Amino acid sequence: MRPGAPEAARIVRSRQYRGKARTAAQYIRESIVDPNAYIVPGASYRTADGQSVMPKDFGTTLSAGEIDDLVAFLLTRR
Ligand code: HEM
Repeated sequence: MRPGAPEAARIVRSRQYRGKARTAAQYIRESIVDPNAYIVPGASYRTADGQSVMPKDFGTTLSAGEIDDLVAFLLTRR
């Protein structure tokens, strides 16, 4: 897991990517509010039933402003 702008940009462009995002910012947001939209390859990132190990409720437990802040912060990271 390397959430950051270059990595997010690489993933949205990759052929395996199956989510709806088109930009790094959209991908980071999607990964927070809908982690199962695309799960990074690797057995340790999935539960036994194939779901992302990420909590699935950040879209309801965080405010819109908190999610905006997380996306903005993670975009500054490599
Ligand atoms: C506010 C808290 C969190 C934020 C903002 C966040 C953000 C993200 C983002 C942006 C990604 C995509 C990264 C990539 O594509 O390289 C990601 C993936 C991932 N996160 Fe989180 N995360 C949070 C909490 C957690 C927690 C609590 C766990 C584990 C208990 C976790 C485990 C993972 C794993 C294993 C992945 C890779 C699998 C996947 O793509 O779903 N994260 N996270």
